[in-house]
Amino acid sequence: MGKRFPGVVAVSGVSLRIDPGEVHVFAGENGAGKSTLMKLIAQVEPPTSGTVALGGRTAQYQGPGAARKLGVAMVHQEFALAPDLSVAENLFIGHEPGRGGWISRSAERRAARELLARVGLDVDPNRRVSTLPTAAQQRIEIAKALAVQAGVLILDEPTASLTEREAGELFGIIRELTAQGIAVLYISHRLDEIFEVGDRVTVMRDGEVAGTHPVGEIDETGLVRLMVGREVDDLYPRSDREVGRVRLQVDGLGRREQLHDISFEVRAGEILGMAGLVGAGRTELARAVFGAEPPDSGSIALDGRRLRIRDPADAISAGIGYLTESRKADGLAMQLGVDKNITMARLPMRAGLIDLRAEHRTAERFRERLGIRVPRVGRPVRMLSGGNQQKVVLARWLETGAEVLFFDEPGRGMDVGAKAEMFQQLDLLAGQGKAVVLISSYLPELLNMCDRILVLRGGRIAGQLQRAEFSEERVVALATGAKGNHA
Ligand SMILES: Nc1ncnc2c1ncn2[C@@H]1O[C@H](COP(=O)(O)OP(=O)(O)OP(=O)(O)O)[C@@H](O)[C@H]1O
Ligand SMILES: [Mg+2]
Repeated sequence: MGKRFPGVVAVSGVSLRIDPGEVHVFAGENGAGKSTLMKLIAQVEPPTSGTVALGGRTAQYQGPGAARKLGVAMVHQEFALAPDLSVAENLFIGHEPGRGGWISRSAERRAARELLARVGLDVDPNRRVSTLPTAAQQRIEIAKALAVQAGVLILDEPTASLTEREAGELFGIIRELTAQGIAVLYISHRLDEIFEVGDRVTVMRDGEVAGTHPVGEIDETGLVRLMVGREVDDLYPRSDREVGRVRLQVDGLGRREQLHDISFEVRAGEILGMAGLVGAGRTELARAVFGAEPPDSGSIALDGRRLRIRDPADAISAGIGYLTESRKADGLAMQLGVDKNITMARLPMRAGLIDLRAEHRTAERFRERLGIRVPRVGRPVRMLSGGNQQKVVLARWLETGAEVLFFDEPGRGMDVGAKAEMFQQLDLLAGQGKAVVLISSYLPELLNMCDRILVLRGGRIAGQLQRAEFSEERVVALATGAKGNHA
């Protein structure tokens, strides 16, 4: 099949066979065409060329509703639930049980409970979707797909917003579905999970299939080489930096039930890691310092000067930046160009007017440096692949010139090569004497990139580790409060 967008060939000449009951993983660089290919299979987008056949019968393009009825359902990178409707309403939108105009509420609730049980969810079907955590919303998406007796279930980066435990539970659900003969198509950037859940893996590159292999017949190095077309020898570039004077000083910070008496400093040239389980307060802490959810108590000082931060605008003008964990919340202006989105936080001005040429130059520099895949920088961000949107957000914060930068799960959705590039940028910032805070749930990132790691638990600082003391066990012990730890 093929799919062309104006100025971009997203998918070209792809032929594939999907077997019942297999987990077929799709991997490849940001912008390689994975999501687009899945949208062609799920008929979310019409193909420019080619067809999809289901059970040997060619299906004409009729839109996602028709594809669902034929048993192909897709859970998107960004969920598509109606937040203000109930769980049951979301499950049956468009195909209510008890057709013929009149929907029996009790029949709907019963059917809902059965579906939710299949994805291991025990929630009230009357509950509003917006009140549920991310992992539960995702399971509702999957349950919704099952509501139409899916034969093919497509999951686009499903673990990107899940904790390790939730991801493990998702793999369990996937195994149950494949045991029932459902084929699962699974997009992922995480090498470890490719080998954990996958039966076969197809690597895409520049819109084409670079290769399909049973996972037992390929290793990580081979997979990375197929993805980027070369060896990536250093996934975590780190230079010898001088850690200097204290730049950010936080003292006794507290906020409601979320944060308690938090004190720490970040020094010039330092990358400080923040570890902890989901809910430990890492994001809340960053948001408090950034003024997004101002603290009730405590003080924040930069270079020895006490700051008064009431909102993010105060933080930005004081020189504090925060890359949030969610692209949507980070306010990417989807209709505006890549260039405008990058320079938004610090518009290049000349005589009171926005300097368009400077804006263009800046955007070009970042396109090059981070490998943002876009034919021209004026193109609206909504036309970019998920990982490339993430790079735009990253570029914005690299561009603000902030002195203290919080990066909250910055590698989410990025391919391995792009991640290495991003870490290099963080290392460069620190090398310039800035203070960098890296929040990550993926321990290898923290252990490799940071000078020091602060571990949070229950909204408090549970401990900190110097680089010489780093070990996965120590971080986990502090994060979980396990006994027998002397770090
Ligand atoms: N609606 C659209 N309009 C224009 N171009 C698009 C559109 N959707 C995707 N593209 C382009 O098609 C190409 C493939 O994008 P796609 O989203 O399929 O990549 P991907 O492999 O899923 O990447 P990622 O890992 O970043 O999610 C990219 O160059 C992207 O910019
Ligand atoms: Mg994608």
